[in-house]
Amino acid sequence: MKFDPWNPEFVAYPYDVYRDLRDNDPVSFFEPTGQWLIARHADVNALLRDRRLGRSYLHVGTHEAFGREPEPEFQEPFWRVIRAGMLDVEPPVHTRLRRLVSKAFTPRMVESLRPRVRKIATQLTEGLVERGGGDLLAEVAEPLPVTVIAEMLGVPEADRHLLRPWSADICGMYELNPSLEVQHTAVRAATEFAEYLRELARARRQRPGDDMISALAQVVDDGDRLTEDELIGTCVLLLNAGHEATVNATGSGWWALFRNPGELERLRADPGLMPTAVEELLRYDTPAQMFERWVLEDVEVGGVTIPRGVEVALLFGSANRDPGVFADPDRLDLGRVDNPHISFGAGIHFCLGAPLARVEMTESFGALLRLAPRLELAEEPTWKPSYIMRGLESLKVTV
Ligand code: HEM
Repeated sequence: MKFDPWNPEFVAYPYDVYRDLRDNDPVSFFEPTGQWLIARHADVNALLRDRRLGRSYLHVGTHEAFGREPEPEFQEPFWRVIRAGMLDVEPPVHTRLRRLVSKAFTPRMVESLRPRVRKIATQLTEGLVERGGGDLLAEVAEPLPVTVIAEMLGVPEADRHLLRPWSADICGMYELNPSLEVQHTAVRAATEFAEYLRELARARRQRPGDDMISALAQVVDDGDRLTEDELIGTCVLLLNAGHEATVNATGSGWWALFRNPGELERLRADPGLMPTAVEELLRYDTPAQMFERWVLEDVEVGGVTIPRGVEVALLFGSANRDPGVFADPDRLDLGRVDNPHISFGAGIHFCLGAPLARVEMTESFGALLRLAPRLELAEEPTWKPSYIMRGLESLKVTV
């Protein structure tokens, strides 16, 4: 098999192909997307920190200057929302936006949320246990991070069911060469999501609550530190990033435990292993398999010169199985201590929500181990067709 992000078999198990790339072709051109695939940990890690690359090129030149077609006009409402969030901008705008929200995500702030996260995880798990089992993804892995981020931002409970479909539809645009239908669905979702948040932020400006949307709406009013578009872009980003990967990490993590019963038993016997276990599960089946960067100035990677104006595809899933960095990388070892996995990225865009994701995973794995000591897989799960945001369709279990 070759690197083929549209092939379900590859998506289900990309690791042999990654090994082949790392060994034989660590920097290779991938014709179907016109990108350079980067397979080794050292290169992925270095490029994430290299300011000659960017998540965008629009801070240094136009589409034309980079030899690119502007996006089709129908996508304009989508990019307007997405490019107003910190993930798709570079300094100095990135620095300003990140600083405004980073206070809410410091390890200390996030630690203060732990009791609430634990309570939600416990309630969801109790529900699953009462029903004798069900879909761990839909019943625990999804609602936990959605509820947490929605509460932080202040999205009313009655509207929360809207968030997951909007976010999933928006993520469709990030897959490689999305179909026209997927693109239109993503544009529609971004437009509706933005309209919804605009209304909510205006309401909160009039009657502030103790939540992040109210706080950010206040910053818009304070002067020129945040525009209304940036407020919307920030909220969309937080709501999306705030659960999409966490859901997949939880589902893939449990699937890895079921396939490695010895490790699952080890964790049951010693819950003190949880911190290293969470890191190892994030490494072993990386929830976001690939992130892209634009080359803003020619760079040399592993002896290959990659010219300005092209895109590199950083293969996180491959980097996380690199034997040059991880001893016995295909083995799940929940006690692994030397584990510099790259699942949260690196450099200026390093995941802002990493402390929160860790608390959410620790609490949901902990609640399931505690309250469902005989948790078992009910049927073999299947992977969703998406490669970049890689996750299971469902995870049916019995308790
Ligand atoms: C297991 C769960 C998660 C994983 C694997 C993950 C992974 C990532 C990665 C790899 C990036 C960097 C992307 C790049 O460099 O191109 C990122 C950025 C980001 N993540 Fe996460 N994330 C997770 C959970 C969360 C949560 C829970 C939140 C917030 C509530 C969050 C908020 C963000 C934000 C705001 C950024 C953009 C940071 C910036 O551009 O400066 N993430 N995440």
